[in-house]
Amino acid sequence: MPKPRGALSEWVVHALADAATSDSAGTAPEADSAGDEAIALWTIHELSYRGFEDASDDAEWDPRVLVVRHGLETALEARLRARWDGADADVPAADVPAALQALVSAADGPSLADHVRRHADVDQVLELLRQRSVYQLKEADPSTWVVPRLPVRAKAALVELQYDEYGDGNPNRLHAHLFARGLEAVGLRSEYGAYVDDALPETLEMNNAVSLFGLHRRLRGAAVGHLAAFEMTSSLPSRKLVQGLERLGLEGAMVAYYDEHVEADAIHEIVAARDICGTLAEDEPDQAAEILFGAFTCLDLEARFARAMLDTWAVDA
Ligand SMILES: [Fe+2]
Ligand SMILES: [Fe+2]
Repeated sequence: MPKPRGALSEWVVHALADAATSDSAGTAPEADSAGDEAIALWTIHELSYRGFEDASDDAEWDPRVLVVRHGLETALEARLRARWDGADADVPAADVPAALQALVSAADGPSLADHVRRHADVDQVLELLRQRSVYQLKEADPSTWVVPRLPVRAKAALVELQYDEYGDGNPNRLHAHLFARGLEAVGLRSEYGAYVDDALPETLEMNNAVSLFGLHRRLRGAAVGHLAAFEMTSSLPSRKLVQGLERLGLEGAMVAYYDEHVEADAIHEIVAARDICGTLAEDEPDQAAEILFGAFTCLDLEARFARAMLDTWAVDA
């Protein structure tokens, strides 16, 4: 399990370690900081992905843990919703794909890909890859939870997209695996969760949001909206990352990973916006605003993460 960052994550690590045997942990304490809160929720969510060698498998559905998870998820969702101005909240279902495009076009956060393409040094690129690894090593997994919650057309389209993310039946083409091989090629560790102790609070919040959306049926619209914004902002930045990696001589498997996304995500963005989000909004019009909330959240969290990274490098953008 990750290193605790305060009283709450300390409690979580203990509760997860002895969920099967002990009921003595008592009530969870307040979080000491945003980082403590974020790593606590990240740790609990991971029980639904790969788990931990040093956590009990029973902890995933331990009522004590679920109470803490509910409190942390409620606070996270409230924070994410407060950041969205809801300007698109009454968008007609038929306009959802166009509204997604407008949201993406209007996003004006700093671009890490631009920095990598032109200016970043090797240490900065490796730091960025360590941060990205927290999600990229489980790339596509949170979207898979959404599949059974969708109507027919959106379901078929999401599975088409996911089939690609999972390598079209070839384990060597599975995107998370391509990323793991890329990490090794640039001299980094590739085990799942290897760098979570280095993760910025912004990195953890991005991961926690996508897990929150994936785990709750109620948030299925936000989950696919998040996916659409992610895919719609991947192809061009991936090309820039390829150029930056090549400029720094980091050729090989990591370039192959981003190269794959230049082409794949040029298609995925259309599938996600039109065939997943568009048809979901038509079939369930009350999800239209939720789709845009999810898309906004993806763009907003990426912008916050980019600002945090550039700040640590003292780069103006
Ligand atoms: Fe991918
Ligand atoms: Fe993709």
